[in-house]
Amino acid sequence: MTFVQRLGAAAGHIERRLTELLAECGPEKGERLGAAMRHALLDGGKRFRPFLVIESGGLFGLEAPAVLDAAAAFECVHCYSLVHDDLPSMDDDDTRRGRPTVHRAFDEWTAILAGDALLTLAFEIVARPQTHADPAVRTELARILAHAAGGRGMVLGQMLDLEAEKRGEPQQLTAEHVRRLQGLKTGALIAACCEAGAVLAHASDEERAALKRYGEGLGLAFQIADDLLDAEGDAAVMGKAAGKDSAAGKATLVSLIGIVEARARLTEAVGRAARELNRFGARATPLIEAAQFTASRGY
Ligand code: IPE
Ligand code: IPE
Ligand code: MG
Ligand code: MG
Ligand code: MG
Repeated sequence: MTFVQRLGAAAGHIERRLTELLAECGPEKGERLGAAMRHALLDGGKRFRPFLVIESGGLFGLEAPAVLDAAAAFECVHCYSLVHDDLPSMDDDDTRRGRPTVHRAFDEWTAILAGDALLTLAFEIVARPQTHADPAVRTELARILAHAAGGRGMVLGQMLDLEAEKRGEPQQLTAEHVRRLQGLKTGALIAACCEAGAVLAHASDEERAALKRYGEGLGLAFQIADDLLDAEGDAAVMGKAAGKDSAAGKATLVSLIGIVEARARLTEAVGRAARELNRFGARATPLIEAAQFTASRGY
């Protein structure tokens, strides 16, 4: 199986489980809120974050069904973040995953509320006994997810991103500032997905820390790649607009150091991430391939 086939197979499992979980825990049938949540959550996306949960658990011998609900919870947080990221007061985007953004397909207040409900759905999923038999594991998953998504993680990163944009002149920022911003807005959640596999498997502290460091490098690479795609990618393939970052004056490595140098940083981040997995030997191949995919992806 190629890496892309493996990612696609995981996406199929996740799609089915998200559909079930939304039906079980989401708004009742016929509610407009439920329709907006389905629009945001289902039928699209690479499902890269849940893939990382599945493969990190797989490192310790866990089969996909044992980690699927936890993986789904991380994807709920990611999808909520995209809905809010696209809002007119944030990145103001009309297209996501090849479809109208939620505020375009519905309206702004519905998009805000659908995002809120996806975020809270994630924690309901994590708290359910079906997610893991051990309540201490469920509590720890909730803690790392909240920490990664919140005011010391993704939300802070989004704040720094928008502050830099609204202030203008991103050129005045240092590469170190951009790196911190990207590590928070994208790296924190991706690192927590990798750490989650270790938590689900009751892995050792050392294994868990190595996976987290891998995830941090991977997350940084993932956002540099996203910024390069914004500059060079094909909007039709990506299913979202291109060329928006420079038009909006976003603080990205591409705006700061240019495409060639940003690509070099991307390669470096991928190499650093992959080296963290040395201790796991051949079992880590899918995660090493995930890092390589991050650098070469066109979507
Ligand atoms: C886009 O994430 C937002 C970033 C954090 C860069 P993805 O590229 O994973 O988007 P989907 O889930 O595949 O649509
Ligand atoms: C989004 O970064 C990071 C999030 C936490 C959602 P971007 O704003 O660059 O993501 P896209 O390009 O809209 O997918
Ligand atoms: Mg953004
Ligand atoms: Mg955006
Ligand atoms: Mg982007």
